[in-house]
Amino acid sequence: MSKSDKKIRIGLFGLGVVGSGIVNIISRARNAHAEIRRICVRDLTRKRAVEVDPAILTDKADDIFNDPEINLIVEVVSDAEASWQIVSRALRAGIPVVSGSKAMIARHLPELIDLQRRYGTALLYDASACGSIPVIRNLEEYYDNDLLLEVKGILNGSSNYILSRIFDHGEEYASALSRAQQLGFAEADPTFDIEGYDSLFKLVIITVHALGVYVDPDNIFTYGISTLHDSDIRYAREKGVKIKLVAQVVKVAPDRFTIFVMPEFVTPNKYIYSVDDEYNGVVIRGECYDRQFMFGKGAGSLPTASSILSDVMARLHDYSYEYKKMNFDGRPVYTTDVRLRVYVRYGATTAVRELPWIEIREQYFSAAGSNYLIGDILLSDLIAARALLSAPDIFLAHIPLFFTDRDN
Ligand code: HSE
Repeated sequence: MSKSDKKIRIGLFGLGVVGSGIVNIISRARNAHAEIRRICVRDLTRKRAVEVDPAILTDKADDIFNDPEINLIVEVVSDAEASWQIVSRALRAGIPVVSGSKAMIARHLPELIDLQRRYGTALLYDASACGSIPVIRNLEEYYDNDLLLEVKGILNGSSNYILSRIFDHGEEYASALSRAQQLGFAEADPTFDIEGYDSLFKLVIITVHALGVYVDPDNIFTYGISTLHDSDIRYAREKGVKIKLVAQVVKVAPDRFTIFVMPEFVTPNKYIYSVDDEYNGVVIRGECYDRQFMFGKGAGSLPTASSILSDVMARLHDYSYEYKKMNFDGRPVYTTDVRLRVYVRYGATTAVRELPWIEIREQYFSAAGSNYLIGDILLSDLIAARALLSAPDIFLAHIPLFFTDRDN
């Protein structure tokens, strides 16, 4: 059969914000040669954002798995366990899958790679990281060499939307969060967005395609924006910087890299300073070409569905990830033995002063209880202090030390 005769018949799992976008976009994509044959949802009675023929709706996964006409499963359910059941079953059955489920993929990636190899089928997931920005396939194909030094950016649209509303519009945190939910950017459980886990999952996936190394999400320092306070915003404004939730994987030596997610003070000369609202921005730094910057909508129904469409169309050409970098010689190893500079604002939890600081560079004590210090500390010591740092009166932000003289 020639490529142009090939028809993609999709079994779709999930008809929420992204699933509705997929129905919309597939119906308009004439060159995809794709049709949605069946849609499996949890609740058949729920009102949907798109009109679909009730005859193709089902609440039984078997209606999709037992349909021999279906040759691609697209999975965008929000429950990570349900997503794992669907995707692993499909791969075992030799059915290729397109998925947007970053939490599931980040937690199961080694098994998912193994399943693809064992059953000779493919799992594509560009929609799992940075919505409409084609990060994964570019890292896999274009950056298929040893030159990459760093991938850093704003990977979560909801938290960026919240921070933009606070910084640029003086809006309150709670109302900005509720708008992010209404607009369909936030996860079903928005703590994933604001505590940094959504960025973390995307970063884990990106790292596999950037450096060929899988790091268990539980071993990565992750700090969110839920304890951000007026005094932190005031401090950032006084210094002429913005606070952004930044995820980064950085080669700190030819054989070592580090990785973390943390709010960061971003100066106006950085690319990500101007990434606002639900937009994402990814800076790729490498030997020979310094920096490249990718920017685009990172959340929302149609932007995410556009990425799914791209993967659906890639299946017209039987595209699959080869995970080539996982076989590279001299892959770097993960280290937390890295000196970071951080800002810590605290109230009653004065124990932060006793952390194993390498150097305290600035301290401020306030009668109002908003004290802060700026100091240098090892990433391993931040990881060891995770419980202390999660106190509600503490906010932590990274002040980049790496390449401070360079524009990123
Ligand atoms: N909740 C995610 C975000 C959706 O806000 O970025 C897109 O992955």
